[in-house]
Amino acid sequence: MRPGHHTIDESRQGEALQSSAVGERKLYLESYGCQMNFSDSEIVASILAEAGYATTKNEAEADLILLNTCSIRDNAEQRIRHRLQHLKGGKRNNPKLKVGILGCMAERLRDQLLEEEKLVDLVVGPDAYRDLPRLVDEVEGGQKAVNTLLSREETYAEIQPVRLDDKGVTAFISIMRGCDNMCSFCVVPFTRGRERSRDPQSIVAEARDLFAKGYREVTLLGQNVDSYKWNVDAKGNVKDEGQPVVRFAQLMDLVSDVDSDLRVRFSTSHPKDMTDEVLEVMARKDNLCKYIHLPVQSGDSDVLKRMNRGYTREWYLDRIAAIRRIMPDCAISTDVIAGFCGETVEQHGATLSLMREVRYEMAFMFKYSERPRTLAERKFEDDVPEEEKGRRLTEIIQLQQEHSKERTAAQCGRIYRVLVEGPSKKNAEEFQGRNTYNTMIVFPKGDVEPGQYHYVRTTDHTSITLRGELVEEAVAQEEGFIA
Ligand code: SAH
Ligand code: SF4
Ligand code: F3S
Repeated sequence: MRPGHHTIDESRQGEALQSSAVGERKLYLESYGCQMNFSDSEIVASILAEAGYATTKNEAEADLILLNTCSIRDNAEQRIRHRLQHLKGGKRNNPKLKVGILGCMAERLRDQLLEEEKLVDLVVGPDAYRDLPRLVDEVEGGQKAVNTLLSREETYAEIQPVRLDDKGVTAFISIMRGCDNMCSFCVVPFTRGRERSRDPQSIVAEARDLFAKGYREVTLLGQNVDSYKWNVDAKGNVKDEGQPVVRFAQLMDLVSDVDSDLRVRFSTSHPKDMTDEVLEVMARKDNLCKYIHLPVQSGDSDVLKRMNRGYTREWYLDRIAAIRRIMPDCAISTDVIAGFCGETVEQHGATLSLMREVRYEMAFMFKYSERPRTLAERKFEDDVPEEEKGRRLTEIIQLQQEHSKERTAAQCGRIYRVLVEGPSKKNAEEFQGRNTYNTMIVFPKGDVEPGQYHYVRTTDHTSITLRGELVEEAVAQEEGFIA
C-alpha cells in the first residue's frame, strides 16, 4: 500500500495547531540544485511556519530535517545519498528526529525512496508542498508519508515566502513552474511537470513587498522565462478579451516599474523563445540588468537536433547577434554539455568554436549524465566514454577560463553603480556587490551599508572578480559610469 493517504485525525490536527502557537518545533531545511529549488524552500518554510515549525540553522537542534533535492545529473543524486548516510548518526542521537526528501529526487523516485533509504520518513514532490502540514502530522504520528502528485495549476501564487537568505538585499521570485520542452537529456519535465505561469499581479505584489522591506534586487525564475504567458493559451488564443495579455516582455516592464531602484534579473532564457521584444524592453530601462544567461548546450546543429533543443547553431548565433545589436554591452553566460550521445570530436570542436565566437562572460559546464526515462535514454546510446567526456569537458573549461579572464579585464578601469550586498567572503573589512553585468566587485567598506547603491571605480581584477574603491556620486557623474 502507498503510505500517506490516510484520513486526517482531527484531534491530532488540534495538537499541531497548538504547538504552532508556541512554535516550539524546529525545521532544518537544506537546498540543492537550481535557484528554483532555493525559491521553493522559502515556500516550504512559509507553509511549515503556519504549522508551527520555526527554521533553524543548527542541524543538531532540529526535530525535522528536510532536504530539497535535485536530479539533474547522477552526481546530484549521489550527493543526497551520501548526505542521508551522514544523517543516520543524527537519528541515532535523537530517535524522534524525522527526515524528509523534497524536490526533484522525491518526484523521480517516489515510494521507492522509502524502500531504499530506511531513515527517510517523508517524500514530497514539488507540487505537493501545501500538503506538508498534514504529511508531517502523519509522520509525527509514527507513519511514513508520500505525496508526489504533479499539478497543472499550482504556482503557490499567494504564499508569502519566508526569506531564508537573511542579508535582505536580493531575492528570488518564481514566475512559472514546470517545463514543456522535453530536451532529450533532461529530467526536469518529469520532476517538475507541465509548464504553468503565475498571475502577474501576484508577482508584482511580491516585488513591491520586497522593495518595501528594503530588498533592492529580484531575480525572476523559471526553466524557460521566455515562454511566460498570462491570459493566453499555448496556441496564442486570448482567454479573457477584457484583460491584457502578459508575456515575458510585459512582465519585465511591470516589475521594473515597481521602482527604478529595484534591479531586475531573470533566469533562464531559452534561445528558441527569446524575442527581440524582450531585448528592447531590457535596453530601455537601467534597472533591467544587462545580463543574459542563454544556455547553448552544444555548438553543433546535429547534436542540438538530437538534444531536441529546437534551434540550430545559426539560430543561436542570430540570437547572440540580436543581443549585441540591441544591447552592445550586455553580458552573456551559458550552459554547455560535453560528450552527449553520439558527439564526435568534430562536433565537440564546434562547441569550442562557438564559444570562441561568442566569448561568454561565464559558463556552467557539465559532462553528459544519462537520466532515466528521458528521450535520450530511450533512443540513443550513451556512447562517449567517461574518460573522453572528461577530456572534452576539461578543454571546454580551459577555454572558458581564458574568456572569463578576458571579459573581466575588459570591464576593469570603469566606474560602476554597484548594489552593496554585504561583507566580502574573503575579507570582513571589505564589501561586495555586483554591477549590472552580474560581475562581483570587492571594495573597502567606507561609510556605506548593504542594500544601498554606490559608485565604485574598478582598478584591479582577478579572473572573475573586480576590485575597486568608492567614489562620490559627483565624480561618477562627471567621469561617466555604467548604471
Ligand atoms: N531550463 C534550463 C536548464 C535547466 S538545467 C535551460 O533549458 O536552459 C541546467 C543545466 O543542466 C542545463 O542547461 C544543462 O546544461 C545541464 N543538464 C541538464 N540535464 C543534464 C544531463 N542529463 N547531463 C548533463 N547536464 C545536464
Ligand atoms: Fe530541461 Fe530543456 Fe526544460 Fe531546460 S528547457 S528544463 S533543459 S527540458
Ligand atoms: Fe535540479 Fe530539479 Fe532544478 S532537477 S536543476 S532541482 S528543477
